[in-house]
Amino acid sequence: MTRYSEPKYRTILEAEKGELEALKAQSANDEWKPSFHIHPQYGLLNDPNGLAWFKGKYHVFYQWYPYGAYHGMKHWAHVSSEDLAHFDRHDTAITPVEDYESHGAYSGASLQVRDELYLYYTGNVKYDAEARDAHQCLAIMNENGEIRKYEHNPLIKSVPAGYTGHVRDPKVFEKDGQYYMLLGAQRENQTGAIIVYQSPDALNWSFLGELSVEIDLEGYMWECPDYFEVDGKDFLIFSPQGIEPDGENYHNVFNTIYVAGTLNLNELSFTVDEYHELDKGFDFYAPQSFDADGKRLLYGWAGVGEVKFPTDQNNWAHCLTLPRELVRKGNRLLQRPAESLELLKGAPVTEGELSPGSANIKLGSVKAWRATFAAEQAADLKLELFSSENERFTIIYDHKAKKVVTDRSDMAHVTEAQYGTKREVTLTEELSHMDIIVDHSIAEVFINGGAAVFTCRVFPLSEDKQMNVSTDAELNYEVHQMKRGI
Ligand code: FRU
Repeated sequence: MTRYSEPKYRTILEAEKGELEALKAQSANDEWKPSFHIHPQYGLLNDPNGLAWFKGKYHVFYQWYPYGAYHGMKHWAHVSSEDLAHFDRHDTAITPVEDYESHGAYSGASLQVRDELYLYYTGNVKYDAEARDAHQCLAIMNENGEIRKYEHNPLIKSVPAGYTGHVRDPKVFEKDGQYYMLLGAQRENQTGAIIVYQSPDALNWSFLGELSVEIDLEGYMWECPDYFEVDGKDFLIFSPQGIEPDGENYHNVFNTIYVAGTLNLNELSFTVDEYHELDKGFDFYAPQSFDADGKRLLYGWAGVGEVKFPTDQNNWAHCLTLPRELVRKGNRLLQRPAESLELLKGAPVTEGELSPGSANIKLGSVKAWRATFAAEQAADLKLELFSSENERFTIIYDHKAKKVVTDRSDMAHVTEAQYGTKREVTLTEELSHMDIIVDHSIAEVFINGGAAVFTCRVFPLSEDKQMNVSTDAELNYEVHQMKRGI
């Protein structure tokens, strides 16, 4: 069959002379570029991929299209870190030059096998704008960080009967001496599912079937499955496409949920105890977790779908979330900013105690900062971030309703307004703690030690800023600058 062709299906190796340098220069001084969130130097970033703690380093790969702020030929970009705070950029890890990946090296996860890191990914092949096929592939990174494609790729050719060409995003893990691969899939009847393969050696795979997940959510495609155990409990994460808003949940174009339950690989079932939306913000999708030193860490894409951002004009888009540590609380996951972020703690802006009343914390031109608020007694609280005469991003806690609302309708640049400009969550416990981490164009808001998290992209005007706080409570607060990490 002939392959689909469009200018955006071009690898980085096909750049014209000076083209990449020009892209890099164009976005270099963009004031909305984060200083410690992983972001592309130029082009578009989406999902985190292949996350690993391997041979004394953290490795983060991500989906990357080099030529602009839109989705095109996807590569795997690569950064690494010794401390999960300061990152170095590396050469492109996977460039889709082979026939089996002619329209992109799509998402996947990694697994250490003996002394090498296996990077599983999906080779995407398009025949026309709609028709596609998917091959599951492998690239291997050795101890020296050299990456090669497996010579017998693809590991899994095409898709099993009963599914469309939308089968992707391998998550591989070992259990009881066998390897398993979960894949996001679309059934021929246009509904979403997770399918399972098994292998004795992480190279030769056989199709087991579909994972039964008894959940009243369907959608037309389930992307980016992830499975892990925290503290004796199984968790499944996936990103279903095509589900409707429901109360405070699922207001973004695409959404991500986590399920607490029990995985039974003999019966191919995931028994569901509870499920919840993972992040309550505007910009969060396709997260992936990994294990490092006994801790379960997670990165998400701080973005979703095909949005228009003010950074598009400089030909770059999106960043990852911060690394979060997942802690189990019953059937819930708490998401805490990784401890490594303490390494980026910079000069104090201010700290103090606030009696019921209000304060204006001057941030001036400081664009990377972290603020924590702790209240002994619950009370109403209102924060205005990036505040000036011209705009503000509001966070309100309504003590009676136990509800937190984030609102970006008063920002000068409002993105994705068609999906609403507020996100809210009703807490199970009174607000006692808020941790806000801001990096130029992203704010991550952690409530009560990660019981609820809002990931929000914001594009503040370039002008002096302050944070306005008003509360009925006694509050302790601390604000400090954050240092550069990438
Ligand atoms: C999720 C996703 C994945 C796919 C990748 C392509 O955002 O659509 O399912 O592998 O992005 O970039």
